Amino acid sequence: MALIGLFDLAQPVHSIRRNYPIIGRMRWFFEDIRPEIRQYLIEDDYEQLPFSRSQRSLVYARSKNESSERAFGTQLDVYESGYEFIGHSNRPVPPGDPATFRVDIGGGDCRQPYRASILNISAMSFGALSANAILALNQGAKLGGFAHDTGEGSISPHHRHHGGDLIWEIGSGYFGCRSADGGFDPRAFEEKATDPQVRMIEIKLSQGAKPGHGGILPASKITEEIAQTRGVPMGQDCVSPARHSAFSTPNELMAFIAELRQLSGGKPVGFKLCIGQPWEFMGMVKAMMDTGILPDFVVVDGAEGGTGASPLEFSDHLGMPMREGLLFVHNTLVGTGLRDRIRIGAAGKIVSAFDIAATRALGADWVNAARGFMFALGCIQSLSCNTNRCPVGVATQDPLLQRALVVPEKAERVFNFHRNTLHALAEMLAAAGLDHPSQIGPHHLVRRVSQTEVRLFSQLHTFLAEGELLSGSCHSSFYKNVWDIARADSFELL
Ligand SMILES: Cc1cc2nc3c(=O)[nH]c(=O)nc-3n(C[C@H](O)[C@H](O)[C@H](O)COP(=O)(O)O)c2cc1C
Ligand code: SF4
Repeated sequence: MALIGLFDLAQPVHSIRRNYPIIGRMRWFFEDIRPEIRQYLIEDDYEQLPFSRSQRSLVYARSKNESSERAFGTQLDVYESGYEFIGHSNRPVPPGDPATFRVDIGGGDCRQPYRASILNISAMSFGALSANAILALNQGAKLGGFAHDTGEGSISPHHRHHGGDLIWEIGSGYFGCRSADGGFDPRAFEEKATDPQVRMIEIKLSQGAKPGHGGILPASKITEEIAQTRGVPMGQDCVSPARHSAFSTPNELMAFIAELRQLSGGKPVGFKLCIGQPWEFMGMVKAMMDTGILPDFVVVDGAEGGTGASPLEFSDHLGMPMREGLLFVHNTLVGTGLRDRIRIGAAGKIVSAFDIAATRALGADWVNAARGFMFALGCIQSLSCNTNRCPVGVATQDPLLQRALVVPEKAERVFNFHRNTLHALAEMLAAAGLDHPSQIGPHHLVRRVSQTEVRLFSQLHTFLAEGELLSGSCHSSFYKNVWDIARADSFELL
């Protein structure tokens, strides 16, 4: 037993066994008998809590380079409302090269555009995630040539160690570019933003899991490393206010974007938000038109998104789900003739190639995944990220628990998950006669709406025509009414 225990402690492959030698092996025993227990007593494999076993197993298999093939046909009920599929073609083509699945981000005012992968690591801060998790994510991003969003906790030494591309997120706490009174410090921003590893700047307006909610990192949790990374003092609570102090109107937001672009040396600057009151986003678009300052990108986060911790009501009942938010942002930009100058990213429970295809069909140019990459790091969905007791070392600052996560091993899994997912996407698109994700549209996706009817996404959803909002003849009364009351000089109603 002692020898097995020592072996478990030393082996780099299984996180659980490193932290819980011998007893951790019970997990595999229970995993083994789980299907039977579930089948007879509990729920099915597609119950989402918030990710189903089927979704998690897919990520684990792709991360480990194992086959994700299934025997005997689908277990989904294809006659149940909400079932979705892609219409394949009778003229499939050879799969496109996933290396070409990239999108150019950066409009005319941008001097250092970025060619991003269509699948990137969504914002998660050092603080919410462990040092080892950040190291593994960034190394995986470096290996696979995709981007790693820092989250609002700023750029830590762990983000820098492997040199993977970074999207630096600036939240309302301005961590990493914060003045002594908690405001925005342009000089501190410039110093970090001009670093070549930083490829884009993302202003965080809101996050789907807790939109309109600030955050407090209690003094007790602030290690010296976190204090240095965020530029906050030790011994005091670290507060992210609910709203930004650098701007208070849509016009001022555009001016802030222009300032960040200039200070960063012309890198792409955009913002991330979960859509809430629709006139506010339309006000921002009016501000774009009034000021002539455009963000290079907008990232739409969905209410179904994740977080380290948030009040239950915020997670469950605030903010628009990703698909509706994405469609709204896409339509508003199309309706004002700005869509081809602004890229759109989206995040919200994206783990499979189909999820990417469906999100692109509704208007996204690229997607971000947070929890998908956490599963690749070994997350077992124990739902205890807020306790600092993550059993696999992903979401904890406890050094003992963190040793469960062996960086090179998990970096390889992050890389594999990205690569194998894009490979699956290439094959899925090829079956539909397409060789690049940019070709997929709402007419390729189908949803069952009743026992006897299915509809194309293009039939189900409202799509505005180019410039329709400006012409005064918008066919959608919703879009027209909201556009009429939106203001560029205030987030309030007209
Ligand atoms: C542990 C954790 C920490 C997060 N931290 C941030 C953050 O600092 N900033 C942010 O904009 N979003 C944050 N998010 C939200 C994610 O970036 C993402 O938008 C959301 O989870 C939806 O993606 P998913 O469904 O793939 O997880 C966090 C999510 C998780 C799970
Ligand atoms: S294993 Fe649990 S605590 Fe750790 S990251 Fe996953 S859900 Fe959070």
